[in-house]
Amino acid sequence: MSAARGSLLGIESLEAAEILKILKFARRMNPNKPRPLLKGKRIFLLFYEPSTRTRSSFEIAAKSLGAQTVLVQTMGSSIEKGESLLDTGYTLRAVGADVIVIRHPNSGAPYVMAQHIDIPVINAGDGLHEHPSQALLDAYTILSNKRRIQGLQIAIIGDIFHSRVARSACHLLTKLGAKVILCGPPELVPDVAATLAPTIRVTRHLEDALRGADVVMLLRVQKERLAGLRIDLSEYIARYQMTPARLKTAKKDAILMHPGPIIRGLELTGEIADGPQSRILEEVHNGVQTRMAILARAVGKMR
Ligand code: CP
Repeated sequence: MSAARGSLLGIESLEAAEILKILKFARRMNPNKPRPLLKGKRIFLLFYEPSTRTRSSFEIAAKSLGAQTVLVQTMGSSIEKGESLLDTGYTLRAVGADVIVIRHPNSGAPYVMAQHIDIPVINAGDGLHEHPSQALLDAYTILSNKRRIQGLQIAIIGDIFHSRVARSACHLLTKLGAKVILCGPPELVPDVAATLAPTIRVTRHLEDALRGADVVMLLRVQKERLAGLRIDLSEYIARYQMTPARLKTAKKDAILMHPGPIIRGLELTGEIADGPQSRILEEVHNGVQTRMAILARAVGKMR
């Protein structure tokens, strides 16, 4: 079975035109002016990993469009008893799910679900693979601030190797014509990352990444995934932590982004997180209307 129409499994397989269509529709969405596009629908939020932003904004998005939502998490569900991914999917379908939004630690889990369940599946982050709704809300935020993505220079700094956010962002931003520079130590930014798209470049030097940047996107150093890698966090901070002085190397009107959760004192200072160039909370805010568009698309109402 191929994925049901309306599924959103990744950015890699989306055409630029479809990305722009979702972003355009998201501009028309407003959680404070509810529209019943999902009236009578049941949206299941199936989260095998922790989440604050993605889970809550999908829930608000679904409810703003008139849907019912059901949250299923590992703890407290039959997943704890050993139920398989597909058996859980079949169960949610039998209960009456119209859409499944899934976050899973294994790369590809949403694809497996979508191949076996005949309803739209939305990837809310799978392992080290993709986080398409995050990339879309980040593109929405860049467009809101810069009016374009084509030709922008975007520096992505941090733990790119373990980041599904980075992978989806690289696909999306290069499809829409941005120049992307990835920056960090080789353990977190392997040279092979440059092969994600032809216009991606890798650098080890923060200044090199920041010079001329229109957008600076920081990524969390995922301490929980660093076992076995020789990363000295104090050296990372010394070379890559974003500070007000370092941000001055980017364009004067550069915006600072981070998908969250942020770790103050590691990838950025508190001054940067709360500073005038920070768009971190704007990204979170934009997540709701972007996810409203994603859910409307899932049920065929993105017109
Ligand atoms: N950016 C993001 O995915 O955050 P959560 O893990 O809180 O959902």
